[in-house]
Amino acid sequence: MSLRKKFFAATYDRMSRKNEELGVRALRQGLLADAGGRVLEIGGGTGANLPFYNGAVESLVLTEPEPNMLRRLQRKTREQAPLAKVLRAPAEDLPFEDASFDTVVSTLVLCGVDDQSRALREIRRVLRPGGQLLFLEHVRSDDPTFARFQDRMNWLNRFVVNCDCNRPTLSSIEAAGFTVSRLEQSTMPKAPKFVRPLIVGSAQT
Ligand SMILES: C[S@@+](CC[C@H](N)C(=O)[O-])C[C@H]1O[C@@H](n2cnc3c(N)ncnc32)[C@H](O)[C@@H]1O
Repeated sequence: MSLRKKFFAATYDRMSRKNEELGVRALRQGLLADAGGRVLEIGGGTGANLPFYNGAVESLVLTEPEPNMLRRLQRKTREQAPLAKVLRAPAEDLPFEDASFDTVVSTLVLCGVDDQSRALREIRRVLRPGGQLLFLEHVRSDDPTFARFQDRMNWLNRFVVNCDCNRPTLSSIEAAGFTVSRLEQSTMPKAPKFVRPLIVGSAQT
């Protein structure tokens, strides 16, 4: 376990607080209003989405590969969603049968998975035909000048928060065979400029 990952897990809620208060929490709430049926959340982190799952959710499984995050996620889930299951697994290798879920949720995860196209293939595999991916992800800017700035700053982003600030995640979602049905472009107001562009939406298999 690298020290940086341990530090990231221990400080994640504190680091995110301002962004959450100034808009990200409301975006989570809006996004998760559409979660229903058998729901899988990948990269559950410290459980920031737990308060927003509603009665349309029949069952909830959360996965998380990092042991320090996993411990926090298990504790929060026991407190806030005691019927939910928490498993250790990376998004690239999901331990579920094909078509096991109606909804998969990914918030601020596809920026940091080791292999984004493999993770999206796995998400598609475990969703039933017509199932939905709900996403909230910070992404590469559509503005080429700004995107080049993100490319230059990516080493710093990787060093501090273990993810890429310059991934074209929307194109990757489409390239994986999803059809995007709702898309909102937003920002993380208190993040460093190069991490601000945000997409929120849903896509069908
Ligand atoms: C920025 S945090 C976001 C946590 C949470 N989803 C949220 O919205 O607050 C990124 C999370 O993705 C997890 N992660 C990293 N690599 C992953 C992978 N390959 N598969 C799934 N999750 C991963 C991290 O451990 C961390 O919990």
